[in-house]
Amino acid sequence: MSELRVGIVGYGVMGKAHSYGYRVAPMLRPLPVTPVAAVISGRNGPAVAAAAAAYGIPEHTTDWRALVARDDIDVVDICTPPGTHAEIAQAAAAAGKAVLCEKPLALTYREAAAALAAVTSAGVHHAVGFNYRRLPAVALMRRMVAGGAVGEVRLWRATWLSDEFTDPDTPYDWRFDRQMGGTTIADLGSHLIDMALWMAGEIGSVCAQSATFIAERPLPGRPGEAGTGAGARAVTVDDASSALLRFGSGALGAMEVARAAVRRPCDFTVEVNGSRGTLVFDYARLNELRYGSADDDPGLYGMRRIRAEHPSHPYAGSWWPIGQGVGYGASFGNQVADLLEGWPDAPWDPGFGQGAAVQAVCDAMEASAAQGRWVTVSEVTGAGGAG
Ligand SMILES: NC(=O)c1ccc[n+]([C@@H]2O[C@H](COP(=O)([O-])OP(=O)(O)OC[C@H]3O[C@@H](n4cnc5c(N)ncnc54)[C@H](O)[C@@H]3O)[C@@H](O)[C@H]2O)c1
Repeated sequence: MSELRVGIVGYGVMGKAHSYGYRVAPMLRPLPVTPVAAVISGRNGPAVAAAAAAYGIPEHTTDWRALVARDDIDVVDICTPPGTHAEIAQAAAAAGKAVLCEKPLALTYREAAAALAAVTSAGVHHAVGFNYRRLPAVALMRRMVAGGAVGEVRLWRATWLSDEFTDPDTPYDWRFDRQMGGTTIADLGSHLIDMALWMAGEIGSVCAQSATFIAERPLPGRPGEAGTGAGARAVTVDDASSALLRFGSGALGAMEVARAAVRRPCDFTVEVNGSRGTLVFDYARLNELRYGSADDDPGLYGMRRIRAEHPSHPYAGSWWPIGQGVGYGASFGNQVADLLEGWPDAPWDPGFGQGAAVQAVCDAMEASAAQGRWVTVSEVTGAGGAG
């Protein structure tokens, strides 16, 4: 079987997760090609060398442009901070490579649209790493919504809470920099907005608020230390944001994202209330859904707990026997298997078009919070004028 050779740009948390995904995917289902993580890049030579050894990747480089230019690389997989995504994606498209890009696709809708134009005109495969879609319970939730299990979607709500930014001594890095890390709206919210668009359809307008509670961060110290005390840098991103959403369908939405929630590790929830039922996903119990239907026996009023581990459920049959469940890492194996299953004919999904659509909602939320008013998504995209 032929190999599909991947160059991974960035060796941090996502470089590791994606490397894992390429190893696992062929164990999940038969694929027309075998993905091989062939080379990985990063700015720090010794660190990228150590990561390559740990992830089982034979080659490494400190020059992402050299990785993109290699004739023996078919796919460029972007696992660097958001401020670098659009440039790397455009270079990869120009070199004729398929591109998988971590979320958010870019810093702004304008940048995301430029990346979309680049992959479209190059005619290469493209995808954004909205991996949470590929958890069995989240995929089942979407399948149930699309299949009418809750009736017409009326209310959609989601939260994503972490404590990443709660300690004022956490030193400055790219996540605190609007020009490199983007916003908390985009960092955490891009996953939620992707799920909202996927499950409940287009979002027409938003009304948001944002706050930055810790205005500056100490400059980084030596490895293992916190700040040096020798200086600080202003934080240019939101610590927390929340928004009301109006969907094109008439459904109402509410969402809250925060990296300022003490003792919240990476908790997200998504709930859909429809005309005939309710579905709830809670990441702390990621193999489960709660479901209640208006058709249920009133004597059993409440919601049942569905375990998304049955072979009939999305992804579940390719993993473990029922009762064992899966974790976060499974979403990366599922992602690679989904993308490569139809290689080279099937387009990848979700592609940069979805990444740009998500970015437009992020931009609308940022503008709304800054201006204190409802903002239509079409004001950001320029489609259909302001309303
Ligand atoms: N899908 C998910 O579950 C998930 C989870 C975490 C992060 N992410 C996304 O993945 C991307 C990477 O995040 P991460 O947590 O792996 O980051 P990280 O800090 O762990 O790793 C960043 C990597 O990018 C490289 N890099 C290149 N240019 C850089 C620059 N200017 N500043 C800093 N590092 C630079 C670093 O050398 C490093 O290899 C981000 O877009 C983030 O939003 C996605």
